[in-house]
Amino acid sequence: MDYFNYREDGELLAEQCAVSGLVAQYGTPLYIYSRATIERHWKAFDAAAGEVPHLICYAVKANGNLAVLNLLARLGSGFDIVSGGELARVIAAGGDAKKVVFSGVGKTEAEMRYALEQDILCFNVESEPELERLNQVAGSMGKVARISIRINPDIDAGTHPYISTGLKQNKFGIPIERAPEVYKYAASLPHLQVTGVDCHIGSQLTEIAPFLEAADKLLTLIDELAAAGIKIHHLDVGGGLGVNYNDETPPHPSEYATALKQKLQDRDLTLMFEPGRAIMANAGILATRVEYLKAGEDRHFAIVDAAMNDLIRPSLYSAWMNIIPVNRALPRDAQRYDVVGPVCETGDFLGKDRELAIAPGDYLAVRSAGAYGFSMASNYNARSRAAEVLVDGEQPHLIREREPLASLWQFEHLLP
Ligand code: LLP
Repeated sequence: MDYFNYREDGELLAEQCAVSGLVAQYGTPLYIYSRATIERHWKAFDAAAGEVPHLICYAVKANGNLAVLNLLARLGSGFDIVSGGELARVIAAGGDAKKVVFSGVGKTEAEMRYALEQDILCFNVESEPELERLNQVAGSMGKVARISIRINPDIDAGTHPYISTGLKQNKFGIPIERAPEVYKYAASLPHLQVTGVDCHIGSQLTEIAPFLEAADKLLTLIDELAAAGIKIHHLDVGGGLGVNYNDETPPHPSEYATALKQKLQDRDLTLMFEPGRAIMANAGILATRVEYLKAGEDRHFAIVDAAMNDLIRPSLYSAWMNIIPVNRALPRDAQRYDVVGPVCETGDFLGKDRELAIAPGDYLAVRSAGAYGFSMASNYNARSRAAEVLVDGEQPHLIREREPLASLWQFEHLLP
């Protein structure tokens, strides 16, 4: 559930703010987030985990704006990061480094050192060379790094191949068959302390079966490790819970957590989740202005001022994202349009073959754009990245200014 709804007069609202007012004030393209939605989604996970010891580690990659991270930190959230940059963001936002888990296949020595200085909760290690590097870095600092090993359970998450991560052919994690041997090796390294087991099998999953299959495999592994004298304190099941973009019916966090909790009964394990999309996607929209309507030979184009550099999901994954008018009561003729941006690429589209009743100068909203929207934005075609506004009831807050053009070349240098 989210707080983007139409008012009776046809105006789209973000909580109690009319989107038409926000675009008039802040311009377009404009990301608009709802505080109540973000908090509701985070609390749904927290409540779903309930009485079981748990930590919700929000996946910063979904949306790393400091204001968003700060709101989650105020709720007591942990964070899942994949770079030193994301750790710096969490800290700048007032997040607690001691609730941070560090995922990713390519951690550099500098990133490890920084994370150890900040005393993060756990490194989610993805390979043996990484274990060795971390052991060496921690040793050189006179520290012990807490680790979990990311297990690749070889499960088909049934999602897009680019965002499916738990299959054998993916670069992520360690094959489950090799896990006991790698855990024993980790336990033998003096500057590492084994604390957890983790996995992440993919993103935008709309069924719980693959999650439960993965959990079963990990629990069996945890038993095997216990028998070998390696005690595991936490099970991190990753992120991946899907959201409703179109007509998907993803499970509610409580359905997912209830099924997991049944499996965890009588085990002394802290349960960890790393949700990104499920918290942020439907907490945000991307508002854009219709610049031109253009009739092609066999298609009509709505050319808008947002482009693939602002929101790359449709271009990159052929993702379908709902596009709706900011005022649905305007008297317009309906037509089917490809909604495209100004970037010089055929792949620059936000949606294809959408029925819309619009005229130039109208505004559209791309829904479910709060996750992997701004965080994947670029400056391609020398376009400054969009402004971001976070709405709290009737009050909008500008949480990121539109980039001034000169900032695009701020770090470039002419030859002498
Ligand atoms: N944990 C790990 C280790 C991950 O790799 C990811 C996402 C998450 C948690 C969060 O997953 P979520 O709950 O958001 O599904 N850019 C793509 C999604 C890439 C997801 C990568 N990993 C998209 O726009 O669909």
